[in-house]
Amino acid sequence: MNLYKHVSDAINEKLGTVVKLEVPRNREFGDFSTNAAMVMAKSAGKNPRELAAEIAPKLAQLPFVADTSIAGPGFINIKLRDEFIWESASMDQSPRTDTPQTIDLDYGAYNVAKSLHIGHLRTSIVGDTFNRIAKLLGHKTYSWNHIGDWGKPMALVIAWIERLHPELPYFSDNFDANIPVDFEIDPAELNTYYPSASAFAKENPEFQAHAQDIKAHFQDGHAGYFALYEKFLEISLKMMNETVQRLNILPFDYDLGERNAAQYLPAVEEILRAKNLIEESDGAQVIVVKRESDNKPMPPYMWTDSRGADTYDSTDLAAVYCRKQTDNPNKIIYFTDLRQSLHFEQLFRAADMSGIFPYENFEHIGYGTINGTDGRPFKTRDGNAAGLDDIIDAVNDAVNARVAESGKNLDSDTISAIALAAVKFNDLLHDVRSDYIFDPNSVTSFEGRTGPYILYTAVRLNSVLKRATADTDASYMPMNADERNLLIGILDFERTVHSAFENRATDMIANYAYDLCQLINTFYHNCPILREDIDTKTRAGRLHIVRRAQDTLAKTIDLMGLKIPSEM
Ligand code: ARG
Repeated sequence: MNLYKHVSDAINEKLGTVVKLEVPRNREFGDFSTNAAMVMAKSAGKNPRELAAEIAPKLAQLPFVADTSIAGPGFINIKLRDEFIWESASMDQSPRTDTPQTIDLDYGAYNVAKSLHIGHLRTSIVGDTFNRIAKLLGHKTYSWNHIGDWGKPMALVIAWIERLHPELPYFSDNFDANIPVDFEIDPAELNTYYPSASAFAKENPEFQAHAQDIKAHFQDGHAGYFALYEKFLEISLKMMNETVQRLNILPFDYDLGERNAAQYLPAVEEILRAKNLIEESDGAQVIVVKRESDNKPMPPYMWTDSRGADTYDSTDLAAVYCRKQTDNPNKIIYFTDLRQSLHFEQLFRAADMSGIFPYENFEHIGYGTINGTDGRPFKTRDGNAAGLDDIIDAVNDAVNARVAESGKNLDSDTISAIALAAVKFNDLLHDVRSDYIFDPNSVTSFEGRTGPYILYTAVRLNSVLKRATADTDASYMPMNADERNLLIGILDFERTVHSAFENRATDMIANYAYDLCQLINTFYHNCPILREDIDTKTRAGRLHIVRRAQDTLAKTIDLMGLKIPSEM
C-alpha cells in the first residue's frame, strides 16, 4: 500500500480540499501532520488554531486514525491505528501506475572497438535502475543500447589495422567477401587500436585525411571495410555483454545503434527536404534549430558533414524515427553525460520540427562526473582515464582487503557481489545531475550509506529466517515503537518508487534502502526474536515483521540490481 497516498486521499476527501501531508521529524506526536487548518483559515475567516480544533475531530473519525492533536500555530498531528499499520504492512507492497506508458530508454550506449570507460558507468547503472522502476510500476519499456558504430572511431581502427597489416585484402576496392581471409583480431589488442590511431592521427594529417576517406567509404558500403568491421563488432558485442553481466544490469532489448539507424537516413531526409529543413552551410548540410527566444548559443544540427558523411547528429535523428516505427513510444528518455545536453536539445528540436517526434515527449537525464579524491576526474593509479573494469577491480581489491582484515573468509562470488553493490549503490546514492567523489575505500565500508551495509542487513534478515524454527504469525500483535516504525518504513516503499519514477530520481531508491536498513537494524538490536526468553506469540509476530522487511528490502535491492550473497 502507498500509505502516504492512502492517508492523504482520505483527508482530502474528508475536508473537501487538497491539503499537504508531512511526515514529522519526530514521530512521537504523530505519523503525519497537516497544515490544512492554516491553509483553510483565511477563506473560513477563522484563526488557524481555532479551525484546527474543529477539523481535528473530523479527521479522528477516519477509520485508520487513532488520535489527533494540535501543535504550533495550527498543525494537526495524526497518529495511525496500530492494527491498520500491521495489516497494511502485511500486504504485498507492489506499486502500480494508473497510467501505463510505453517508454524508450537510451542508456549504456557503448562504442564498438573502444573499451568501456568510467563515463559508461552512470548511464548503465542509473539507466538500468530507472528501467527496473518503470517496469515495476507497470510501464512498458524498451532499452536501447545505442551502440557507437558508424563514425570516425570505426574508420580510425580500420586505418590502424591497414597500417599494421597493409597486405590484408580488406583495403582493396575489389574485396571479395566470399574468399575467406586468414586473419583474427586479438580482443585485448583491439582496445589499443583506437587510442593509438587517434593519437597518431593528431600528429599525422595524412593519416587523419585517410581515415576520413575510409569513413565515407565505410558508410557507402565498402565491402572490405565492412568485413573488417564485422570482425571487431563481434568482439565488441561480446565485451559489452560481459560488462552487462558484470554490472548485473538487465539485458538490452536492442543492441542497435548508429549503423542500424543509418538505414533510416533516406526516409528522414525525405521528410526534412519536404519541409525545407535542410540548409547548406560551409559545405555541410544542416538543420537550423535556433529559436528567436534563445539566449544561449544554439548551433545548427549537422545533417551531413562537409565531406558528405553521416554524423552523430543525423544517426541520432534517424534512431528516433526508427524507434517511433518500432516501439511507438510515448516518451524517449536518454541517459548520458551532462556534457551532451546541447546535442540533445538540438536533436529534440530537429525531431519536433520535422514532425518525427514531439519535443515535449523527449527527456535527457544528464549526469555529472565521477571524480577521484583529489576532486578531478577519476584516473587509474598510473594516471590514465579509468576504464570500467579498472573501477570494478579497484573496488574488488578494497573489499578483499577489508574482508581479510576482519578475518572473515568469503568466496570470490561473495566478494564480487559486495564490490558490485559498493559501486552501484554509491552511484545511485548521488543525485544523477551532480558530480561525486569516488573513493574505493569509503564505498566498501560495511557501515554508513554504502552498498555493503545494505547487503549486510539483507543477509542478516535472511539468516534470522533461516535459523527460525518457529512459525511466523501474521495476525495482529501489539507493537513497540521499533516494530511499529519498521512497518511504517515498509509502507513508504510504494510512495518512494512512484516519486523516484516521477522525479527521475534513482537516488530516492538508494536513500530509501538506507533508511529502511536503519529501521531494520534498530528493530533487530532492540527486539530479540529467537532468544529463549521471548514468548511464542511475540517471536512469531516478530518473525512476521522480519519477513515483511525482508520482502521489501529485497524488492528495493532488486531495483538497484544488486545481488544478495548468502553470507557476509
Ligand atoms: N556512444 C555515446 C558515448 O559513448 C553515447 C550515445 C548516447 N545515446 C545517443 N542516442 N546519442 O558517448
